[in-house]
Amino acid sequence: MMQQDYSSMLRRAAGKFRPEAFDAVFGTVACNCPSNIAIVKYWGKRPVQIPMNPSLSMTLEEARTATEVSFRFEPGIRTAKRDFTYGGKASVHFADRVTLFLTSLEPLLPWLASTSLQIDSQNTFPHSSGIASSASAMGALAICLLSIEEKITGETEKASRLKKASFIARLGSGSASRSVYPAFALWGNTPDWTGSSNQFAIPLKDFHPAFEGARDSILVVDSGQKSISSSSGHALMEDHPYAAPRFERAHQNISALKRILESGDWPAFINMLEEEALSLHALMMTSRPGYLLMKPGTLSILEKVRRFREETGLTAGFTLDAGANVHLIYPSGQEQEVRDFIDGELLRHCQDNMVIHDRMGKGPETLTK
Ligand code: PMV
Repeated sequence: MMQQDYSSMLRRAAGKFRPEAFDAVFGTVACNCPSNIAIVKYWGKRPVQIPMNPSLSMTLEEARTATEVSFRFEPGIRTAKRDFTYGGKASVHFADRVTLFLTSLEPLLPWLASTSLQIDSQNTFPHSSGIASSASAMGALAICLLSIEEKITGETEKASRLKKASFIARLGSGSASRSVYPAFALWGNTPDWTGSSNQFAIPLKDFHPAFEGARDSILVVDSGQKSISSSSGHALMEDHPYAAPRFERAHQNISALKRILESGDWPAFINMLEEEALSLHALMMTSRPGYLLMKPGTLSILEKVRRFREETGLTAGFTLDAGANVHLIYPSGQEQEVRDFIDGELLRHCQDNMVIHDRMGKGPETLTK
């Protein structure tokens, strides 16, 4: 099927939905979805949530959002209630964002208008660690919504479930599209991967065993809120002087990364990782207005990581998300040496010595009650 058709196919199917054809049903669904860290970054988009270049990420294991949704589908109602809490407490910020998201989903999930929802979400990583949670939060919510859909319609489309979850999650947060799969995921059209799409992410299965169980120690340099949101950052790419070369380079990097992942070439992987991290931040610094998310501690860590590699010949490399914190990525077999290095050299640059030792993850867990 042509990829442009996936969205229309979902809309067509949704258009046939008649609430009266189904019985009232209520219950609770839950999902625990991980976050992910991009190797090749997504930065720049066009409506609606279509990336300007493909991106590829590693799914994490420890950094997760646990979401529980109690629902009540009543075929006769059209203005269902919404209630949101974060860790059991009211959250206005979360409520506004999710309300908008749910309303935008009604053409795709037409039962939403007749379904009251009580949503509670909580991150498993420390609340104030400055780790972006939109990928795991939107991934968890998308999967919960599809679990509810299955309970209402009785249809279980196991084969295409994650594809649809990725599609829905993407509309909430682009990077969330990649969080619904284990190990590595690719989002965005590229001739290098059959089945790749701008509309949903796909899982990558053919990677070299050398990458199995890769580690990601997240060094929390600054746990504060970032000064510029990802949405504003994406918008600043629209008339960015380096946008065109960046998108071209990202396409090239995706092709190169495919070869690297298949061959198990860790040193090349590290070069790519670091080039992409610094490119992302270079784009931020050269936006109008330009902005700087790295802190002095971030730079000290980057320098020390490069020196550590030179001195030891080990293959630990850094990447950055849209923030000051550093993700240090390395093979599972080098865990002891890298942990000693972190404890001895890097922790002093972290806020309250905070580090989250994470690793390649197994993907979301759906728990239906
Ligand atoms: O998913 P968004 O809209 O929050 O954008 C995320 C962009 C980066 O995290 C900086 C890169 C990426 O590909 O995850």
